[in-house]
Amino acid sequence: MEINKITCSDCIDGLKQLPDNSIDFVLTDPPFNVGIDYQEDYDDNKQDEEYSDWCYQWIREIERVLQEGRYAIIFTGDKKLYYIMKAIYRTNLIFHHFLKWYKPTCQRGLSGTVLFGRTELAFVLSKGKPDIKRINRKTLYSDTLIHYNTTNSDKYNAVNHNCRRPEPLYRQIIQGFDGKLVLDCFMGSGTTAVACKQLGVNFIGFEINLEYVDIANKRLQQNTLFDVMQPLDVKQDGGNGLPPTDKSVGIRPTIL
Ligand SMILES: C[S@@+](CC[C@H](N)C(=O)[O-])C[C@H]1O[C@@H](n2cnc3c(N)ncnc32)[C@H](O)[C@@H]1O
Repeated sequence: MEINKITCSDCIDGLKQLPDNSIDFVLTDPPFNVGIDYQEDYDDNKQDEEYSDWCYQWIREIERVLQEGRYAIIFTGDKKLYYIMKAIYRTNLIFHHFLKWYKPTCQRGLSGTVLFGRTELAFVLSKGKPDIKRINRKTLYSDTLIHYNTTNSDKYNAVNHNCRRPEPLYRQIIQGFDGKLVLDCFMGSGTTAVACKQLGVNFIGFEINLEYVDIANKRLQQNTLFDVMQPLDVKQDGGNGLPPTDKSVGIRPTIL
């Protein structure tokens, strides 16, 4: 399996090519089974138990390829969290807590409720007792990481992918967990690969959709940072400690 290349492959087929205990850190963002249009390669509307079984297939492969004492970070959506958690508990990976990505600007929740979704969750898992000495506490000082969301149409962006993550968030996670050979089995538009390149660490990645692989490779060829490093202090945007105005939907939250 080639290092520092995004392989166009089904994640389970790709994972099966990797030797046991060969991966240093996993950072991955699977489909959440919430009906997102990923083009024709993947049905994001499976039956819940089928989704859970599918998650088990790739999570147990992650368990096999991960080195002892090392971490896997797996993003999850709120709604189908139970089914991915059920898959995790079928393995021997240890679930520690959630890593929270807090977005300072409002975003209407996928569920269409009156609440505005500002937080996304990722499972923090380890294979066996984690080697906590390798956690970089200057970089990862909290379980809540604050980064602005990326959109599909920002001015730096030629990327057309529904779920592109911000590079600064991924750099913070990879650095914080001291990833040296990072695996992402759902590369999408290649954020993990780009963050690894920026940090000078190695990666292995799979993505089933050839168009997304092309997008990811184009991003990788760029030498500049794709997402500008965003300020982490919410006050800088809203002023006086108030939450910032959401420019995209024009909503200023009311403080009660
Ligand atoms: C949530 S997106 C990942 C987005 C990525 N974090 C980024 O920043 O661009 C999930 C990706 O998994 C891909 N995918 C779905 N099923 C897959 C499979 N069986 N094997 C590999 N990739 C798959 C989808 O095409 C989609 O691009």
